[in-house]
Amino acid sequence: MSERERWATRIGLILAMAGNAIGLGNFLRFPVQAAKNGGGAFMIPYFVSFLLLGIPLMWVEWTIGRYGGVRGHGTTPRMFSYLWKHPISRYLGLLGVVGPFLIVIYYVYIESWTLAFSMFSLFGKLPKVPHGATIDQALQPYQNFFQHFIGSVGNSMVLHPSLWAYFFFIVTIVINIYVLRRGISRGIEVLAKIAMPTLFVFAVILAIRVWTLGSPVSPEFSSLKGLSFLWTPQFDKLNQWKIWLAAAGQIFFTLSLGMGIIHTYASYLREEDDITGSGLATASVNEFAEVVLGASIAIPAAVAFFGVVAAQQIAASGAFSLGFYSMPAVLAQMPLGGIFGFFWFGLLFFAGITSSVALTQPAIAFLVDEFDWKREKAATVVGIVLFAAAQVPIFLNGALDELDFWMGTFFITLFALIEIILFVWVFGIDRGWEEMHKGARLQVPRFFYWVMKYVTPIMLIGIIGGWLFTEWIPTIMKSGTTIWITRIFILIMLIIGGILVHRAFQREETA
Ligand code: ALA
Repeated sequence: MSERERWATRIGLILAMAGNAIGLGNFLRFPVQAAKNGGGAFMIPYFVSFLLLGIPLMWVEWTIGRYGGVRGHGTTPRMFSYLWKHPISRYLGLLGVVGPFLIVIYYVYIESWTLAFSMFSLFGKLPKVPHGATIDQALQPYQNFFQHFIGSVGNSMVLHPSLWAYFFFIVTIVINIYVLRRGISRGIEVLAKIAMPTLFVFAVILAIRVWTLGSPVSPEFSSLKGLSFLWTPQFDKLNQWKIWLAAAGQIFFTLSLGMGIIHTYASYLREEDDITGSGLATASVNEFAEVVLGASIAIPAAVAFFGVVAAQQIAASGAFSLGFYSMPAVLAQMPLGGIFGFFWFGLLFFAGITSSVALTQPAIAFLVDEFDWKREKAATVVGIVLFAAAQVPIFLNGALDELDFWMGTFFITLFALIEIILFVWVFGIDRGWEEMHKGARLQVPRFFYWVMKYVTPIMLIGIIGGWLFTEWIPTIMKSGTTIWITRIFILIMLIIGGILVHRAFQREETA
């Protein structure tokens, strides 16, 4: 077996891990979730979930990842088989390869929209809205433009994306595969070193611009009201189950937990490399990007122009409304709006690409580690399959949401529950704790030992149970041809993944 790839520098590793976490989730998904779930009412469950689910699972995933990596394997089917010697464990680990792949097929498409819109902003191709327009007049042109772009006009089963949408999608896939072909230290790490600082600069410029907006439309509205909407805790809403579920779901998505991708990145660590300090550092950087920067842009901007009530309605009207209708509508009203629009969509693109390469890497690592493929060949083949599979969310109306529900919400939580049970109860928390502290720069407080052992698993069971009643049953009952095609597609991908995992293990046994 050839020498395993490694991260070249600690800062590179931290930036790559932070890039993995910081993504569309921080700047698009978080504002929508926070606004839809009552702003301040959302933030308490959010921080509780960060402390009791996010941080412990982050350390667990890094530890499992490094443990597998030093044994020559970068994906969870093999890692889980080290934790639990039973053959079922490899199929449980399957979700850590097929899961991120089924996320990236729609994620990379959304990422390509951000690249397209950054160019449209820069070259003045977005609609223009007269000053003093009403909310509807301001938003409608952007909504029409966006829907035309992705080809969602009417209720037809098939979408008809514009040529630009398809063009930018191809460009985005090509860039991703180019980075992945170059590998861990020369591709992903270099990308993170460029993209992360750029992203922070863009975000800070936008946040300052938004904070200094004043009350451009009505003395009743201001960006500061948007900030106080988010930062004023509402204790009376803490009994709402739905808000807790949304907050926990956001923590998973934003930290990239339960996806198998932290495991793969951590598999490129050396045995003596620190986990506890680095894991906490990347989680903290992600939270800074989310609750400080992410929270300071789309919501305050929408509140300054449309007011708190309308901003909430815009957020509730669809996952992309704050980012693709409201932000460009607001930016168009400002001097140098095109440049700020470029910063906004450029920020999303850089955030997106450092996550999409992470989401694609497990499939590549699987082929390299389990079938001895060369990295370049694996990256190219995965890129071609990714391109083909992405046609489902590109052309099938409703497939993107359905994939996001199953892969971006349900399976990541289930996967996290499986891994924590394997780590704490099968592998053993004492062994796990010791493993986690090898090379540690930070002694984790004993409090987290108990959290990992009891609180995190119980909370995960609670979340899955809660979803069963509030979301799964209504979702499962939802029918429609495109929804069923998407579900069958997911099933087929899981079966293909299962066959490959079976062959990988068989190959080793006969070797
Ligand atoms: N954690 C990544 C994001 O926030 C997937 O977009």
